[in-house]
Amino acid sequence: MARDTSATTILVPGPMHERVVARLGDAFKLVTIETASADRVTDALRQSVRGVAAMTKVDAAFIDSLPNLEIIASFGVGYDSVDARHAGSRGIMVTNTPDVLTEEVADTAIGLLLSTLREFSRAERWLRDGRWVKDGPYPLTATLRGRRAGILGMGRIGKAIAKRLEAFGIPVAYHNRSKVAELANDYYPTLVELAKNVDTLISVAPGGASTEKIVNAEVLAALGPQGVFINIGRGTTVDEEALAAALKNGTIMAAGLDVFAKEPHVPQALLDAPNTTLFPHVGSASIHTRNAMADLVVDNLSAWFSEGRALTPVPETLSATPRRG
Ligand code: 8YV
Repeated sequence: MARDTSATTILVPGPMHERVVARLGDAFKLVTIETASADRVTDALRQSVRGVAAMTKVDAAFIDSLPNLEIIASFGVGYDSVDARHAGSRGIMVTNTPDVLTEEVADTAIGLLLSTLREFSRAERWLRDGRWVKDGPYPLTATLRGRRAGILGMGRIGKAIAKRLEAFGIPVAYHNRSKVAELANDYYPTLVELAKNVDTLISVAPGGASTEKIVNAEVLAALGPQGVFINIGRGTTVDEEALAAALKNGTIMAAGLDVFAKEPHVPQALLDAPNTTLFPHVGSASIHTRNAMADLVVDNLSAWFSEGRALTPVPETLSATPRRG
């Protein structure tokens, strides 16, 4: 029988999916605070909090303000918002929500790619603005036909995007830190080499210091004048100023972006560019998938406190173990 966790305090700092809040409220002693900042942590919370569920930034100072913390369940597959290395060094478990969003994000990537090439958003606006009647058919667009795609970050989501593109008849190459043994796709050991050999670059790369602005002016120049850049990973992986310049100068043809370096703020130059398709970070944002992510956040906390294990631990904190029971 599952252990009674109703006296275990779980802290939710900042915004959270309503299903997480409801389920945590049923199973645990749930406390919410406005933001994940150390100065919001009262003495009572300092003593009592054993778990955190978060979709905002969780930094080292916040982690250190909770001496009895055992686990941080982060909402999302990307966990660059959580200082997982620091948590790991303190023996604190960090979990994320992989797998349950893979297909949704891959679907969105294809939608964004097609929308960028075929200008579906602008074409609909043309109809709604009465221009079909006034000015005739929407102008002809670029196409997916004949393109060669390159995926930056061939993990679970990258592979799901590749599978879809291959079904569309599009060859897929990739760049990763290392070659993926089971894949027959062309592998390029550098991002510039990948960009030189494709005309459609799709980034699924995670955030964090090691990927900061890796999509830079050199990569965009290598992609070339027919180049299309799609980003479904993290905005921080892109030098947005260089991207805006490349779009303006015709260094590349177009970009489709679901993520930005300083969300929800989007650089004016990208908003003004006629050759961008911009989504407000909706990669995983269906009711179905966000519910599945919410369940995995709560299931990680439940498994930790009733069975002493996490379901989806991140690599930096694999060796963390529960402190009590
Ligand atoms: C969510 C995401 O927007 O999973 C991720 O890494 O970026 C998205 O699915 C995010 O987790 C919501 O906070």
